[in-house]
Amino acid sequence: MDDTTDFDIYVVTTPGLESALCAEMQAAGFAGLQAGKGGVSTRGGWREAWRANLELRGATRVLVRIGAFRALHLAQLDKRARRFPWADFLRTDVPVRVEASCTKSRIYHAGAAAERITRAITEELGAAIADDADIVIKARIDDDLCTLSIDTSGEALHKRGHKEAVNKAPMRETMAALFLRQCGYDGQEPVVDPMCGSGTFVIEAAEIAAGLKPGRSRAFAFEKLAGFDAAAWSALKASPPAVAGTPPTVRFHGSDRDAGAVKMSQENAARAGVEDRVQFRHHAISDLTAPDGPPGLVIVNPPYGGRIGDTKQLYALYGALGKVLRERFAGWRAAIITNEPALAKVTDLPFLPTTAPVLHGGIKVTLYQTAPLPPAA
Ligand SMILES: C[S@@+](CC[C@H](N)C(=O)[O-])C[C@H]1O[C@@H](n2cnc3c(N)ncnc32)[C@H](O)[C@@H]1O
Repeated sequence: MDDTTDFDIYVVTTPGLESALCAEMQAAGFAGLQAGKGGVSTRGGWREAWRANLELRGATRVLVRIGAFRALHLAQLDKRARRFPWADFLRTDVPVRVEASCTKSRIYHAGAAAERITRAITEELGAAIADDADIVIKARIDDDLCTLSIDTSGEALHKRGHKEAVNKAPMRETMAALFLRQCGYDGQEPVVDPMCGSGTFVIEAAEIAAGLKPGRSRAFAFEKLAGFDAAAWSALKASPPAVAGTPPTVRFHGSDRDAGAVKMSQENAARAGVEDRVQFRHHAISDLTAPDGPPGLVIVNPPYGGRIGDTKQLYALYGALGKVLRERFAGWRAAIITNEPALAKVTDLPFLPTTAPVLHGGIKVTLYQTAPLPPAA
């Protein structure tokens, strides 16, 4: 893989969290950033694409644009796809799949477009095609311009490779990381999640504090591309993190009234290698107290309205959560992710203005956050 080529790299994220991802990319030193709808673009060689996969906590996947040509009709698409230098990117022994989309173009049939490009790859390069292929080529035909990208991630990046056990409504790691960032969390303060479920917020916060790279334990699609430089990749993985970690002291606390969730969180934390930084306890919100030491951030996504449980109980639960935080967490910032403004309101917490809602498992959720809470009246 020649790393002198400069590509357009598009980092996909959860819609609504683009500016948070952009801030993360800026802090990580990515160049030429432009936030769009559903992602952020940057420029760089293969190393930057690898680094985006390895280091960005808020990235869902990383697409590398490998070429573009005009295609006014299917015969032209066929001809130009056949002339494309596929061997520069794809291996003949690794199956490929093509996904196409068409907007504002004379070619309007995405299935036919995908079929032409697929045929070009099989007949000109000799690569196999498979529905479950590790490599996905994305063809986007917009305004008669066909842009070809490779999905360099493979499995979506919220799958860090540490969480085997999940509870009913787990938060995606990528979203948890960006919500933590939106709360101004920088790895230096303690974090508490009193309804921790599978432990996502607590483990993500502990990993950030430890300076661990989120992609350290998993494989990526780019490892199966033509000319992949395994030695350079190993060197990148072993390089020091952009932000150095802090020494381990227990500063990340999760609790849940479900004993199974607590066990799950402990196991997930051990797999992620942060068990010496986290503490999980089995108790309900009513028994929650602030940990000793300096204040930090309480972040929690309680059960959502319309998803788990019944409405009356939910109002009582949010009310109890708000009361505990107001009475026992003076000096701490509180952040609640929920889908119903009325549920946030019932906490009676002094929320700051909210940012754009975000889709979580098909439900629109909003981050409600406070400044440091005043002493209890
Ligand atoms: C939406 S899930 C949280 C998911 C979590 N953020 C994750 O990523 O896995 C809500 C959690 O709240 C817990 N819960 C509900 N009522 C509670 C209460 N009164 N006290 C403590 N935990 C409670 C549930 O057991 C469940 O694990």
